[in-house]
Amino acid sequence: MCGIVGYIGARQAQSVLIDSLKRLEYRGYDSAGIAVVPPGQKKMQVHKKKGMIKNLEDNLPALNGTLGISHTRWATHGPPSDSNAHPHVDCKGNIAIVHNGIIENYLELKESLINEGHVFTSETDTEVLAHLIEKYYTNDLYKAMKLALEQVQGSYAILALHMHERDRLVSARNESPLVLGLGIDENFIASDVPAVLKYTDKVVYLDNGEIADVTKSSIKITDFNGKTIERPWHKIEWSLEDAEKGGYEHFMLKEIFEQPRAVREAMLGKLSGFTLDNVNGIEFNSAKILGCGTSYHAGLVGKYILESIMGLPTSIETSSEYRYNSTTLDQPLVILISQSGETADTLAAAREARRRGCKTIGITNVVGSTLTREVDDVMFIRVGPEISVCATKSFTGQIISLYLLASHLSRTRGFLKADEIREFSNALRQQSRLVEQVLNNPEPIKECANKLAKAENVFFIGRNINYPSALEGALKLKEISYIHAEGYQAGELKHGPLALLMPQTPIVAIAVKDHTYDKMISNIEEVTARDSPVIAIGHESDTELEKYVDTVLRIPDVPPLFTPVPVAVVLQLLAYYTARNRGCPIDKPRNLAKSVTVE
Ligand code: G6P
Repeated sequence: MCGIVGYIGARQAQSVLIDSLKRLEYRGYDSAGIAVVPPGQKKMQVHKKKGMIKNLEDNLPALNGTLGISHTRWATHGPPSDSNAHPHVDCKGNIAIVHNGIIENYLELKESLINEGHVFTSETDTEVLAHLIEKYYTNDLYKAMKLALEQVQGSYAILALHMHERDRLVSARNESPLVLGLGIDENFIASDVPAVLKYTDKVVYLDNGEIADVTKSSIKITDFNGKTIERPWHKIEWSLEDAEKGGYEHFMLKEIFEQPRAVREAMLGKLSGFTLDNVNGIEFNSAKILGCGTSYHAGLVGKYILESIMGLPTSIETSSEYRYNSTTLDQPLVILISQSGETADTLAAAREARRRGCKTIGITNVVGSTLTREVDDVMFIRVGPEISVCATKSFTGQIISLYLLASHLSRTRGFLKADEIREFSNALRQQSRLVEQVLNNPEPIKECANKLAKAENVFFIGRNINYPSALEGALKLKEISYIHAEGYQAGELKHGPLALLMPQTPIVAIAVKDHTYDKMISNIEEVTARDSPVIAIGHESDTELEKYVDTVLRIPDVPPLFTPVPVAVVLQLLAYYTARNRGCPIDKPRNLAKSVTVE
């Protein structure tokens, strides 16, 4: 996720672009840049800086010009640096573009553009867009954009300007958001409403497959074939603060609802294969996964995924314990999971793993984070910045990355046949739709949350691949609602915790239809015999479950291996609505930090 802003009108563009960009900092903040077209001069003014927008702002000279674009970055290809920051320009420096999204086929495009003589100055996927537009430019930026996009696969919101067309901004959208803000003799284009709200409350949303040709007094929207599209404008009723949360009450809820898209982006470009250059050649017959908190729980899901797909014995430890264990014989392959890539315990574990001679893979959300430098290979989960302390979309993004990793290792090691891999990829593609289905029906979850809000203790139970779901459900609930919650392997309840059950102690049982289902039902009966109310999470078509429990929350019918993501979304909403009922400060729970940089 990145933030982009364009301005065309009578004001000095610099202050509008910087001011608006700051409203999008929640979309990314590892580097920022601006391009402004100066009147009467031949050279575009382009300034880019690694770091937050403030860093760019503090280093900017006064830029003269009323047409410009700006960008705040959350790196996906190429680490944060001045040269990888946007805007990117073509060889002649006439065209400047900013981009939010991922150009999947950028490597092949880059190669052929280099063969044609184009000179690249960054490691980004985005720069190909500037050179492609240059290639097709014949005095008409709109036409060149249209032709360039015919070559491009991936997700994008793009803004482009040309030095020789000083009353024109051209933008296009596929899978990344864009909104046009309508002013009087001025127009704005941005990734999201908060960027324009200070200047106008009249907006037009661009849809996928649309190009907007914008001057200071007009907006023309077409599809990629050039067919004109009439689109009414909306009046925005939100306050600026509401707008930053996309109209949601909390960032956590916004991030939960971002998951259909986040899950799609986490897979983008990886389903048909990817490379892990440094671990590809190594021999291993077991693996170890390390992480902290929610990342540890994702790792535990990963253990079940790797074991069930590849039969690869996989052990898991928290990063903080790994360093101090006394193993001398270690697994040759260690996978380290960290949303931030900065958790001190996980960084220390990465160093320790390498010291022990292991090959390491990092799974993180932050390009350029310390973890990326401490491991041999990296997979980025690409779910965009997570603002709420409570991890949600990063958890599901990590699980998606682990499915992808399992499929990659299976493919390269010949564990699965081509048709099995195809089947697996098809199932993976459904994950986003499954999440959407859960999100479309929050009412039963809200009703359960009303009851949970009165509890003092809650137990979450699960088996097999949904045992980690129980741990994560309990963690979500305790961290944001301050209700004591514990996650248990359902079979272990009778070895202690049953002593704590009372009619006022609810149980959340993850009881999807898998090979442990009958055992799970027995465990549920152990609980109901103690009069504890049970909320079960089960498959849509399971009509048995409701006979044993008080309430059933449903996930779509999907093979057991693919249940953890939709189950996680139910549990996130359950924790969210419970905490909301109790009036807790959801985005910033007491005593907790998003990134823990001390051991
Ligand atoms: C903190 C956060 C958790 C997170 C954990 C690990 O405790 O509050 O949400 O799961 O750190 O963070 P990481 O960035 O390494 O995934």
